[in-house]
Amino acid sequence: MVVIDWDRLRAEARSMSERAYAPYSNYRVGAAALVDDGRVVSGCNVENAAYGVVLCAECGLVSDLVAGGGGRLLAFSCVNGVGDAIMPCGRCRQLLWEHGGADLLMDTPRGVLTMEDVLPMAFGPENL
Ligand code: THU
Repeated sequence: MVVIDWDRLRAEARSMSERAYAPYSNYRVGAAALVDDGRVVSGCNVENAAYGVVLCAECGLVSDLVAGGGGRLLAFSCVNGVGDAIMPCGRCRQLLWEHGGADLLMDTPRGVLTMEDVLPMAFGPENL
């Protein structure tokens, strides 16, 4: 069984937020997640002069997951530049659903919730 160390995940997310490339919004985001094999994957937001093509921190995290061998996400933390827990945007909830499903645990401003809580009635692989 993989133990969830929330403090470690939050610290990793905070550390990632310091690497964000956010010169347009100045809103730094860091994300970190525990994988079912014990790995911790992470990402930060990466903005662009063409504002609409911004990569959210979760995009980097999912790339880190897949490039590192894949696996299922068990627990997820996302923070802003001052370390407060923030919610993934709608698109990123969908990205996370793909790799963690309904049971993925999310650190939120309202405490630990599941993906099912924050993205009810999601569209997923089983719908195809
Ligand atoms: N952002 C993320 O990285 N993840 C989210 O889930 C919400 C928004 C970033 C995108 C942009 O660089 C900045 O936060 C402001 O929207």
